[in-house]
Amino acid sequence: MIYVDEAAGRFHLQGKGYSYCLQVDEEGRLLNLHFGARIPDGSLRRLVDDYRDGASFDPKVSRLPLELPSPGAGFMGEGALQVENTNGDNILRLRYEGYTLLDGKPALEGLPASYVESADEAQTLVITLKDELLPLRAELSYTVFRDHDVLARSLRLVNGGTEPVTLTKMQSASVPLYGEDFDYLHLKGGWARERRPLRAPLAGAAVRIESRRGASGHEENPFLALMEKSATERQGRVWGETLVYSGSFMAEAVPDNFGNTRLSIGLNPGVCRWRLNGGEAFQTPEALLAFSSEGLNGLSQAFHGLIRTRVCRGYWRDRERPVLINNWEATYFNFNEEKLVAIAEKARDIGVELFVLDDGWFGKRDSDNCSLGDWVADRRKLPGGIKGVSDKIHALGLRFGLWFEPEMVPPDSDLYRAHPDWCLHAKDRPRTEARQQLILDLSRQEVQDYIIAAVSAILGNEGVDYVKWDMNRNMTEPFSAALPPERQMETQHRYMLGLYRVLETLTAAFPQVLFESCSGGGGRFDCGMLYYMPQTWTSDDTDANERLYIQYGTSVVYPPAAMGAHVSAVPNHQTGRVSSFKMRGDVALAGNFGFELDLTALSPQDLAEAAEQVRTIKSLRGTLQKGTFTRLESPFAGNYAAWQFVSPDGDELLFCGYQRLVEPNPTTHRIRLCGLDAEAIYRLDDGTAYTGGELMEIGLSMPIAKEDFSSCVLRFRRERAPRA
Ligand code: DGJ
Repeated sequence: MIYVDEAAGRFHLQGKGYSYCLQVDEEGRLLNLHFGARIPDGSLRRLVDDYRDGASFDPKVSRLPLELPSPGAGFMGEGALQVENTNGDNILRLRYEGYTLLDGKPALEGLPASYVESADEAQTLVITLKDELLPLRAELSYTVFRDHDVLARSLRLVNGGTEPVTLTKMQSASVPLYGEDFDYLHLKGGWARERRPLRAPLAGAAVRIESRRGASGHEENPFLALMEKSATERQGRVWGETLVYSGSFMAEAVPDNFGNTRLSIGLNPGVCRWRLNGGEAFQTPEALLAFSSEGLNGLSQAFHGLIRTRVCRGYWRDRERPVLINNWEATYFNFNEEKLVAIAEKARDIGVELFVLDDGWFGKRDSDNCSLGDWVADRRKLPGGIKGVSDKIHALGLRFGLWFEPEMVPPDSDLYRAHPDWCLHAKDRPRTEARQQLILDLSRQEVQDYIIAAVSAILGNEGVDYVKWDMNRNMTEPFSAALPPERQMETQHRYMLGLYRVLETLTAAFPQVLFESCSGGGGRFDCGMLYYMPQTWTSDDTDANERLYIQYGTSVVYPPAAMGAHVSAVPNHQTGRVSSFKMRGDVALAGNFGFELDLTALSPQDLAEAAEQVRTIKSLRGTLQKGTFTRLESPFAGNYAAWQFVSPDGDELLFCGYQRLVEPNPTTHRIRLCGLDAEAIYRLDDGTAYTGGELMEIGLSMPIAKEDFSSCVLRFRRERAPRA
């Protein structure tokens, strides 16, 4: 609910569990009075007065909790909106002009964003500020969802004059939080070790989390949280932000010297400037903000709910995702049709539903050094082309999926030979290669159209039900032959807008194709990609032990239904580690389950176990995909990891516990469950019954491990009547 008190210039955005309160002051400045736990409407007068007095060396404006600060005219901190005016200065003095309040949520032009399906699901408030001197307007947009404890924010800048203005920093959200004694938490990583949660005290220093790579990246995720010192997974105040965007971003937590900390997120100003001509508008990506007074799990659950149902879209959003087999780790580039069909036959036998043909099916691609862009089947490997193999897979009763890496062009490709200027590059400079490839310049419409046509030709004619959309390097020389010098710093963002146009077109044209996003594993795991593709390949690291860390960290923001997770061979190809088939399956179960190994090479025993895993997944999919996920024990804390799923109706509970190493003379290790019905009975298939209270307060004892890397998955059904 959004309350507006026009006379007092006050806006109270009240979610299920949060309040976000804005006030126009006597000079027309927009102040943020509170973002935190929900408060009753009308509780703000004291807060307004709070900022009125107090002597300071600096001008008064420097101590105000401005909602959209700009430097140059008294505000001494980090501006959320920064410009270069035609006269060379950077001054903005933004003053309140008006507001509109509407039911529902308008789409953001050209950008992915959270959405609603009916107008009664949300209210959107747009507050307009205007510079006192220049005809520049800032439209701040806020959406409060009825069913989700997340606030969606974005900023639109409109140049109503005739002179251009250059936008040098335009954060999607920037919130001055009261308090400075916070820890911050971010998701740090690298290829094959994505999204490890790191927590540290802010200790008065400004913190910046960013990517400049033209992708959200493996190294940092577009996410930053502030936590009260005492906050844990299960209790305490936590604020978090993420961005519905897949390119370079910057998130900051900046303490001022008046006891506030500004939390913000948006495009990365280090690699993005935008020239806004008179009459033009610029729309920032959308930021999602959440507050939880129930610790980090509460924050994650708020994000999970919104992302799963109101960021992810389309035919597959709510449908059970198929159990898949991917041939990458089974064959790499070395396959032919016969081999693929042999794997698919075994897959059919154990109940797999989708066969995915990975890299190496096109051009003359026997290694990763050529042919991207030449999307024509290699007849040496596939004599009947893609249609030939997809027909055979379909005849087995499986769906057929295909890998693409459409944004790339290696110098050794017909596409590059025909269009050497279609890649990102800087005039007269060497073109830096990575994985022996360059990046197509998706800021250019003819390049976007080429990709749309090439991919459509295959999706439309060759019997493809699933696409793995990969992207295996980040930007260097991120400039365009098609843009004038003063717009070169727009290339990265224009690339993303181009990519989104391609994805919008393809997903609209092929609504029933299931798209999975990938970027060398999880190098572009963000809400921008999830808007077009409801699942992402979480990491190229398929080692079960490593996946505990990666999936645990990923779940801080993203729901399990968004994570691809596969059982692969041992010794594991990334780590050389050997873990049991059961452990590998029990870890992969907490995502979109699949296999990534040569099923024709499995022992009968492992094959039987694989078939059992598929049966289990199929019977649990509803809860795994749509249930409430809670982290119970962190693998970063010790030898164990655990999480739970509870079905939407609360009647099914799934506990997943993992132990890395065997312990000598082991002590009891209990794990307390969370959020259950304390009075109800939760019964295992073997009849053993516990009350919810027992499970939450006493906990479950992990079985004594007999080998390294062991796991335990327990399914309980809730019975409503208490035990006699
Ligand atoms: C990187 C992906 O993450 C892998 O799964 C695989 O598809 C390779 N690319 C293929 O080149």
